[in-house]
Amino acid sequence: MPRVSQKKPLLRVAKAEVPPGGALVFRKSRVAIVREGDNIYALSIVCTHLGCSVNVTPKELICPCHGSIFGRGGEVFKGPADRPLEQLTVEERGEFIVVLS
Ligand code: FES
Repeated sequence: MPRVSQKKPLLRVAKAEVPPGGALVFRKSRVAIVREGDNIYALSIVCTHLGCSVNVTPKELICPCHGSIFGRGGEVFKGPADRPLEQLTVEERGEFIVVLS
């Protein structure tokens, strides 16, 4: 029996809207859609320390609350956070990217 995904669409964005080497940030949904080369992926912007929303800069993601710094792949560069930002599932549907939650 095929396995059915329980995840639901959270955001739908045209791929062309995601700037090369940049990101689109959806603060209400607390998601950043990032483009690195041909790769487009989605990160939760919820800091893994105590849950503040991180700010996305061209080089890194910075938490304004206690100064944690994450790489554009979500990896921890500087604590106090000790876990990476959550990578969200994305699906390509034609010219669109759909972020699932
Ligand atoms: S909530 Fe982000 S560093 Fe504390």
